[in-house]
Amino acid sequence: MKLIKPEFQIKPEPAALAGAVERLYDDVFGPARFHKASYQFRDGVAPVKELSWIALEGDRPERVVGAIKYWPILVGETGHPALLLGPLAIAADKAGKGIGRALMFKTLELAAQLGHDLVLLVGDVDYYKRFGFVPATPFGFVMPGETRPDRLQVAPLKDDVLGRIAGDLRHLSTGLAAQPAKRPARRARAR
Ligand SMILES: CC(C)(COP(=O)(O)OP(=O)(O)OC[C@H]1O[C@@H](n2cnc3c(N)ncnc32)[C@H](O)[C@@H]1OP(=O)(O)O)[C@@H](O)C(=O)NCCC(=O)NCCS
Repeated sequence: MKLIKPEFQIKPEPAALAGAVERLYDDVFGPARFHKASYQFRDGVAPVKELSWIALEGDRPERVVGAIKYWPILVGETGHPALLLGPLAIAADKAGKGIGRALMFKTLELAAQLGHDLVLLVGDVDYYKRFGFVPATPFGFVMPGETRPDRLQVAPLKDDVLGRIAGDLRHLSTGLAAQPAKRPARRARAR
């Protein structure tokens, strides 16, 4: 019996393939990707390791044909922890074969298992709605600097999140513990 090799396999991104993943992102989105508003949240922040997954070509497992990442962000004045999904990229010659779908469902399932309750992204509404994403602006989410707020989308991974959590998306560093208030200068002791 002849075994038919699957067209692709998905797995967590190994460190050794980080360069290949960046090359895929460059091929799919071009160097202008770094100017997107979503990149402001990635500056100096590592992606969530457990949610960085790749797709490898079935018969050439050294070729990366898909990749997805998520970044930790904060939302609103309370600094609610959330995930910013992206980039998701599939090699042009492998589009439409279910690779994006496989990476999305696997990582969203993992994100929920890890306890995350809110995922945001900027992308095509018609693609991401199949994974439970809905336009985020009507729910009060704002990505500062995003020129196409209609492309900002949100997926709740737990009930009761939408409507309760909202506000500006914020870089992780803005949630660092506040500096201790300066002590008032010691008054000269009265004699
Ligand atoms: C968009 C992308 C992530 C989809 O991944 P993929 O592996 O090609 O897609 P899948 O095989 O999982 O899904 C295919 C389905 O998605 C639809 N689809 C693909 N791209 C779409 C888009 N930009 N908008 C709406 N639907 C889209 C296809 O029509 C197909 O629909 P069907 O299941 O009803 O036939 C991938 O093609 C990609 O990286 N494209 C380049 C970047 C890009 O265009 N991004 C735009 C989205 S932010």
